[in-house]
Amino acid sequence: MAVSEVCAVPVKNHIPVFLAIACYICTIFFFYTFYINNSMADIFERLLQNYGPIGQHRERAHGYFAFPKLEGEIGSRMKFRGNDVIVWSLNNYLGLANHPEIRKADAEAAAEYGLALPMGARMMSGNSNLHEQLEAELAAFEGKEDAVLLNFGYQGMVSIIDVLCSRHDVIVYDAESHACIIDGLRLHPGHRYVFKHNNIEDFEKQMERASALVERQGKGGILVITEGVFGMAGDQGKLKEIAELKSKYSFRLLVDDAHGFGTLGETGAGAGEAQGVQDKIDLYFSTFAKSMASIGAFVTGDRKIIDYIRYNIRSQIFAKSLPMPLVVGNLKRLELLKTRPELKNKLWENALKLQKGLKERGFDIGNTDSVVTPIYMKGGVEEATAMVMDLRENYKIFCSIVVYPVIPRGHIIYRLIPTAAHTDEDIQTTLEAFTAVKEKLDAGAYKANAIPDMAEQRK
Ligand SMILES: Cc1ncc(COP(=O)(O)O)c(C=O)c1O
Repeated sequence: MAVSEVCAVPVKNHIPVFLAIACYICTIFFFYTFYINNSMADIFERLLQNYGPIGQHRERAHGYFAFPKLEGEIGSRMKFRGNDVIVWSLNNYLGLANHPEIRKADAEAAAEYGLALPMGARMMSGNSNLHEQLEAELAAFEGKEDAVLLNFGYQGMVSIIDVLCSRHDVIVYDAESHACIIDGLRLHPGHRYVFKHNNIEDFEKQMERASALVERQGKGGILVITEGVFGMAGDQGKLKEIAELKSKYSFRLLVDDAHGFGTLGETGAGAGEAQGVQDKIDLYFSTFAKSMASIGAFVTGDRKIIDYIRYNIRSQIFAKSLPMPLVVGNLKRLELLKTRPELKNKLWENALKLQKGLKERGFDIGNTDSVVTPIYMKGGVEEATAMVMDLRENYKIFCSIVVYPVIPRGHIIYRLIPTAAHTDEDIQTTLEAFTAVKEKLDAGAYKANAIPDMAEQRK
């Protein structure tokens, strides 16, 4: 029947059709009222039902395993809950945090400028000669034409990925990339391929896929992102191997060298220098939060692309610029980093002593080829908790530990960060402490005293 014919039929003949439509509307109404409407929840209520993988343990963990307070002057020995402890969890690689020249420079800069100057974002009203001087010195140190300062490493990296890539571009990245890279990827509207950690065979596989996609699209390019040093396991990124593949595939290389800057390479310029491929890194990124023991970050590269970033990176355009005392303090830190090779030498002397001592005592420290020193053990979360307490309370050793759910169940990773400020005595005491707690772990001693309730221990 044609539409015109339907309309011509008397109204009473349409009653079944009206009824059917009415039933349909009622069903949708009831479904909405009783299902969708009732399934709506207050966002805060939902969040409070599950505090997250670590937050769920907050009552017992807070102030001890999470959010502990290390007090006193930053150094290899600090106070934890009133006790002197040997600290292995600060990325104060070169010992600059409490270096007298640094403390003096920080204090004088704070007195001269205060924290307000300069006000506003760099592009609007927050630029200064000193900001530009720091950028020029960082670029020269890294063998690049120009640099842009970033307020934080994390935010900076997220925003760099955002500013570089359009929806046609493809990102190829290492599976164990830092959260700042992973979160930057969330802003990327295009495709991404992940390669198995430091696995060049898989890297090539993903590059083949990425290259084929770009070719099919007829537009877009490839950005490869990896790290100079992976901060958890301490293994260097395979920069040399990746850089060599530039002759086979077309891509730009962005390296996060948070842990390599100041610790690796002849001059301390980082993993690119150490592996002889600094000139093949298109964008070299690092933070001031580790070797420089400060705040802020930077990215260096060719002048034109850095200028593009400078004029488009949202984390800097829409944020107040680094306060002057930080800029002056970072200039001073860079000066010491460049002119005091003894600091890096001492760091490596300590790191190698610690790593050698651990290996000789039968500890598994994995494949680190940086100063970051992991210790791999087997045991449950409860045993790990009891062991950390034993280390802190009885052996006076403070270091970071990683357990399930961050890593698979049954595994424990300690992460020790040697610094130039550690002494032979710190290292020896620590080796003895780890030997003692490992023996207890193997004997099952921590099973008996497992799960201390830290609520009791909270100050
Ligand atoms: C590899 C890596 N990238 C970036 C960051 C973030 O740096 P920032 O502390 O300056 O935000 C870190 C810090 O943990 C890091 O380890």
